[in-house]
Amino acid sequence: MGLAKKELKLEQFSPNTPAETVLRSGLALANGPVTLACSFSKEDVALIDLVERLNLPVTVFALDTGRLPEETYAVAEALIQKYSLQIEWYAPDNLALQELLIAKGPLSFYESLENRKECCRIRKVEPLQKALAGKGGWITGLRREQGETRQELQPLEWDSSNGGLLKVSPLVFWNDTQLDDYIREHRLPVNRLYKEGYTSIGCAPCTRAIAEGEPARAGRWWWEDPTVKECGLHK
Ligand code: ADX
Ligand code: SF4
Repeated sequence: MGLAKKELKLEQFSPNTPAETVLRSGLALANGPVTLACSFSKEDVALIDLVERLNLPVTVFALDTGRLPEETYAVAEALIQKYSLQIEWYAPDNLALQELLIAKGPLSFYESLENRKECCRIRKVEPLQKALAGKGGWITGLRREQGETRQELQPLEWDSSNGGLLKVSPLVFWNDTQLDDYIREHRLPVNRLYKEGYTSIGCAPCTRAIAEGEPARAGRWWWEDPTVKECGLHK
């Protein structure tokens, strides 16, 4: 039986704690079913492989924003084939999307931060809330190395912004080399865009390759202030 929030002791992990230990602790502590949020990044592919390898009772969901690159769907298909994976896909609400498109057109996100957050809310944040309804925990591929907005992340956190559930990020302390080694060792499918200089991959119109020396998330919403760089999924 999972523990209530006030009983959780979440400060027990060091950077050397294996991802498997974090996953198992998350499952033990969560007060309800646990689901893995998959954007088909290298991180999420590694996590799915771990979950499959350990045969853990975890479902997998993806938020199909309607603007994902074709290359991302190719990874989804590869995972479906490799693991006979059942992906729970969540799409934006039809009416909200229709109203947005009619009122502001298909590229409103380039016009202002407010518009960009509105699009992310409709295409990502609201579907996320549906995906997490009734869950006791969610697993993410977040890592501290991904950028300045992610420096304080912990492997286990209490997520009060999505109705109150455990947020499990087993790769928080992993660096790029650890991740690439895992992918190579287990011969996992990866998004072809990584070979073209992409280091963080979201929606096609809001993601570009980075130049050498730029931070990993510089290609996300590249026209905005680098201290913002979050879409609301992770606040
Ligand atoms: S984002 O908030 O900027 O889009 P990022 O792309 O770094 O997030 O991904 C961080 C983690 O958020 C992923 O490892 C995954 O767990 C979750 N995530 C991001 N986008 C999606 C998506 N479209 N569907 C499901 N999970 C996602
Ligand atoms: Fe919309 Fe861009 Fe956010 Fe995707 S990343 S939901 S296209 S603003």
